[in-house]
Amino acid sequence: MNQLSLLLVGSGGREHALAWKLAQSPLVERIFVAPGNAGTAVLAENVPIGENDTAGLIAFAREKAIGLTVVGPEAPLAAGIVDRFTAAGLPVFGPTQAAAQLESSKAFAKAFMQEMNIPTARAAVFTDYQEAQAYLAHAPGPVVIKASGLAAGKGVIVCDDTAQAAAALQQMLLDRAFGAASDEVLIEERMFGPELSLLVLTDGVTAVPLPPARDHKRAYDHDKGPNTGGMGAYAPPPDVTPALVDKIMATIIQPTIQGMAQRGTPYVGVLYAGLMLTSDGPKVVEFNCRFGDPETQVVLPLLAGDLAAIMLACIQGQLSPEMVQTHAGACAAVVMASAGYPGSYPTGVPITGLNDVPSDMIVFQAGTAVQDHQTVTSGGRVLAVSARGDDLATAVARAYDGVTHIRFAGAHYRTDIGKPFSTL
Ligand code: AMP
Ligand code: GLY
Repeated sequence: MNQLSLLLVGSGGREHALAWKLAQSPLVERIFVAPGNAGTAVLAENVPIGENDTAGLIAFAREKAIGLTVVGPEAPLAAGIVDRFTAAGLPVFGPTQAAAQLESSKAFAKAFMQEMNIPTARAAVFTDYQEAQAYLAHAPGPVVIKASGLAAGKGVIVCDDTAQAAAALQQMLLDRAFGAASDEVLIEERMFGPELSLLVLTDGVTAVPLPPARDHKRAYDHDKGPNTGGMGAYAPPPDVTPALVDKIMATIIQPTIQGMAQRGTPYVGVLYAGLMLTSDGPKVVEFNCRFGDPETQVVLPLLAGDLAAIMLACIQGQLSPEMVQTHAGACAAVVMASAGYPGSYPTGVPITGLNDVPSDMIVFQAGTAVQDHQTVTSGGRVLAVSARGDDLATAVARAYDGVTHIRFAGAHYRTDIGKPFSTL
C-alpha cells in the first residue's frame, strides 16, 4: 500500500497522543497537525489552520493530497466537518453531523436512549422555565441539570438540593448562561457510583472497545475542588472486569450502533461512552463523539494495533476485532496544570526538564508553545506524563517519577491518580 499523508485536527494532549500513535504506523509517511502544539511539532508538522476553519482544512487536505484526516475535538464534528470532507472526496475519520448529535444534543441522545432501551438516568427535557420549575417541584429525588447543547464541559450542574436545581434552571433558561446551548435543558435523575470511560472504535456496524479507562475530573486530591477537563487518568481500572466490558458492549454500545444505523445515520469513528457503574448496573451519563482527554493518553499506549489501519478500516466499513490488539498491563497519566487552573492562569511560563524524563515514559504536551527556542506554557492543562507498567501501581509510580523531572513555576498536579478512593 502507498504511504499516506495524514492531517490531524486539534491542539491538545489528546492530539499529541494521537499523533504519537499514528506516527508509529507503517502506512503513514507524513503527519500534519492543525494547529497542534509544541509536542506535536516534534513528531509532525504543525500548520496554522484553526480546528473550526473547515474550508481552510479542506483546501490544505486537497493541496497535500491527504489520505486520512483525523478530527480530535467535538466542535468541528458537531459543525459537520466529516460531511464536508466526505462531500469533497477526502477520507476522514469521525462521525457525521447527524451522528455527532449523540454528543451535541443531550436531548437527542436521551430520546434515542429511551427509544432503544439503553440504560441511562431518567430525564425530562424543557425549553419553558415555568414548566421546568413545576416538574422540579415534584421530582422524586436528587437531580442533575444539564444544558442540552455543547457548553465546553461546563453545562452540567450536579445538585445537592432543590434550591440549587432551581437556581441552575434560572441560570440556564432565563439568564441564558450558555447562550443557545442552554435554551433546552434536561432535568435528570442523579445517579451514584464510580464512573468509567469506554471508548469504542466503530465502522458503523462492528464496534470494538479500547481498554476501559477512568479520568479524575476534580482539580485537587480526594476529589476536592472544581471540575476540570481531567487531571489524570488510568486504564484499565481494576474493578472493571472483562465481563463488565462485555455487558456494556451488549446493553449499551451494540444497541447504540444498531439504532444509529437503523435511523440512516450510522455512527463511524470513536464513540466515547461516559458511564456510571450504579447498583442497578452500568448506565450512560453521556456520549461523546470523540476521543477523551486525558483518557486517550492512557488508552493509546495500551493499543498494540496499527491505529491508522484501524481508522481506514472504520471509514471503509471493514473493522474487525483482530485489528484492535492491546498490550497487557496498565497505563497511568498525571496531568501537570498551570497555577490557577481551572480558573485564570498565566501563560508563557518556561518549562524545564522535558528531555530528562526517562524514555520509557511519554510526555504528552497539551498547553505548550515554543518561544525563543524555549518550551513555555500556553494553556491550563500543560502536559501529562504517561507510563505503562505490569500493573496499575507500577504504572502510577512510574508516571509520578516522570513528573519529578519536569518543572515550571506554579505547576500543580494531583498526587492520587489511580487511587480507588478518588473514583467513588
Ligand atoms: P456530562 O457532561 O454529561 O458527562 O456530565 C459531567 C459530569 O457530571 C459527569 O462526568 C458526572 O460526574 C456528572 N453527572 C452527569 N450526569 C449525572 C447524573 N445523572 N448523575 C450523577 N452525576 C452526573
Ligand atoms: N475526560 C473527559 C472528556 O474528554 O470529556
